[in-house]
Amino acid sequence: MGSTECTMIFSQKRAETRSYKNLMSHQLKNIKFKGHLRFKETNGKYVFLSDGDKHPDEMDKLKQFFRKHHGLYKFLKYVISPLYFDNFLNKFIENNVEGKEGCYINLGSGSLSIGENIINVDISDYNNVHVVCDVSDLPFVDSSVDVVFILSVLEHIAEPSKTVKEIYRVLKPGGLVYCEFPFVVGFHAAPYDFNRMTDVGAKELFRQFNSVDVRVGSGPTSALLWIAQEWVAIVLSLGNRYLYRFWLLTVMCLTFPVKYLDVLFNFFPAAKNIAATFVLVGRK
Ligand SMILES: C[S@@+](CC[C@H](N)C(=O)[O-])C[C@H]1O[C@@H](n2cnc3c(N)ncnc32)[C@H](O)[C@@H]1O
Repeated sequence: MGSTECTMIFSQKRAETRSYKNLMSHQLKNIKFKGHLRFKETNGKYVFLSDGDKHPDEMDKLKQFFRKHHGLYKFLKYVISPLYFDNFLNKFIENNVEGKEGCYINLGSGSLSIGENIINVDISDYNNVHVVCDVSDLPFVDSSVDVVFILSVLEHIAEPSKTVKEIYRVLKPGGLVYCEFPFVVGFHAAPYDFNRMTDVGAKELFRQFNSVDVRVGSGPTSALLWIAQEWVAIVLSLGNRYLYRFWLLTVMCLTFPVKYLDVLFNFFPAAKNIAATFVLVGRK
């Protein structure tokens, strides 16, 4: 089956009337799937993985809860978490996605929706996910995507170079990748946690791209806060994992405002030495 036929199947499915599907068809109208792949439609999502591909982790139930309640998840990520996020992502979306006709995908989106016309792709079928697949093996045809977002995902992939190759493959010439990745932060599985990268390491990983720019995302205060919160929770847990979770959440709620010092420190040149996260923008 060629890619056109596959697109036709998706078009027929679009005729179905549930409003969730209508929203999806609006988002999926510019995407082209590789023709030969098998998929099934489950809960209004296009699933390219077999039933056996479940990836539970220790905190899965808690994360499923927060991801089902997107508002709460966003609040935890952008307010309570130790990471300070500036306005860079919003500006990037304003400049490169909003009001434009194109194909935009967010890899490893979780249930986080960052734009109405951006397709959410994840290995888990969270609410708001449109395409369920492994980001190391994307179902999209070559040179078919205008912008790829991949936020806090590469550290969860065993072989990130495979994913970066896939991103390069599906991007149109001149297309953009926006990648957020951690450097100095603690262990956090989703469903696994494999690696950390420096700014130079990321440039090397994305060396195939024509241009690559890396900047500090969440700065040194965010890094220090994450590590300090973990340290306090570990010490006060007395070795009990339930107490550890209780203290971690309590300490996070009490200390998160400290992260806003990064409004200033992000701009210090040495901030990159212990930045919590970096943001990479690459052009194919
Ligand atoms: C830390 S969360 C980030 C979620 C969201 N991008 C954000 O910024 O809040 C990592 C996400 O990557 C997804 N993920 C991990 N490994 C994946 C893989 N191999 N393929 C697709 N998604 C994956 C997880 O299911 C999870 O939703």
